[in-house]
Amino acid sequence: MTPSFNIILVILQVILFTFQITNGNECKMNFLTSKDILKKLTSNIVPTLNGKSKGDLGRIGIIGGSVEYTGAPYFSAIAAFKAGADIVYVITTEDAAPVIKIYSPDLIVYPFLNKKYASKISSLLPKMDAIVIGPGLGREDETMKLTYDIIESCKVLEKPIIIDADGLYAISKNISIIQDYPKAGAILTPNGRESKKLMESINSNGSNWFNYWGENVSVLEKGETDKFHSRVPSYNWASSEGGSDRRVGGQGDFLSGSLATFYHWALTSDVCQGEQHGQISQSLASYAAARLVRTCNSQAFEKYGRSMMASDMIKEIHSAYKKVFED
Ligand SMILES: *[C@@H]1O[C@H](CO)[C@@H](O)[C@H](O)[C@H]1NC(C)=O
Ligand SMILES: *[C@@H]1O[C@H](CO)[C@@H](O)[C@H](O)[C@H]1NC(C)=O
Ligand SMILES: *[C@@H]1O[C@H](CO)[C@@H](O)[C@H](O)[C@H]1NC(C)=O
Repeated sequence: MTPSFNIILVILQVILFTFQITNGNECKMNFLTSKDILKKLTSNIVPTLNGKSKGDLGRIGIIGGSVEYTGAPYFSAIAAFKAGADIVYVITTEDAAPVIKIYSPDLIVYPFLNKKYASKISSLLPKMDAIVIGPGLGREDETMKLTYDIIESCKVLEKPIIIDADGLYAISKNISIIQDYPKAGAILTPNGRESKKLMESINSNGSNWFNYWGENVSVLEKGETDKFHSRVPSYNWASSEGGSDRRVGGQGDFLSGSLATFYHWALTSDVCQGEQHGQISQSLASYAAARLVRTCNSQAFEKYGRSMMASDMIKEIHSAYKKVFED
């Protein structure tokens, strides 16, 4: 071999090695800085609109609502839609369904949240790419039982799920129900009070309670600072950017709905081909939703101040989207 051939060989190896570092090992990358996370989100996860047909960007299911609560499932559903999903289904009670239909002609609303329609629910779940369980569900015993059945079905169907609000109450009363959730994954989105309740139920002294349910379940803790906890410490993050002192009813529902859309996108993206695809997807999707909500909150607060409501935040989604993901 001539020396110049050797040099070329070495250069080729260096190029190959660099390529492996930047591509093959993506799953091992450390996502701790918000700049890294946003780069991943914009380049790998938020999809382009070119050449897509209806349904490609996600069919999200929202399961919740009750005679008292019609706003919560509505906010969750409309946030999933405005974050970019193509189709959003709401499964709610017979009383709540007509009310939610009147709020919005964009949503597909099924009045089947009742034990007597269990088989109808079972036939709808397979259509959904990601499912939010809990907004406005209420805490009736019958509802809790139905919720456990729905979670069991989601497990069997390997559906990605987000559990919030009264869905978290259901879990705190039956703590093992999401134990060993399959790879599709579950994200719990408790606020401070709900975290405390879950912690008490699993009898934890506070350290690493969020790891209780196994590797496929993670926790996005909402608060003044939003915190993401998973089994992989390098994917955990905390964010306090944006937001305002005003926290309004419906903000949590906004988060759960937009999270479902981002989570579906992350899971179907090429962001990481390895074992930890699920955990990375949960971390990135949670960050996207948390940032979107916080940005909408601060923008709406600037306009409306104390009079700001969740519906004012919803109106900010388009411009907040551009600010967070397209700038
Ligand atoms: C917990 O969920 C399981 C599975 O659906 C169910 O069989 C059991 O009755 C539930 N436990 C309580 C206390 O509701
Ligand atoms: C996570 O999901 C994978 C794939 O379904 C499964 O093999 C594994 O047992 C799950 N982990 C836990 C702790 O249940
Ligand atoms: C908290 O609980 C964990 C595991 O259950 C244990 O390892 C740890 O020592 C406990 N810490 C305190 C301060 O009790």
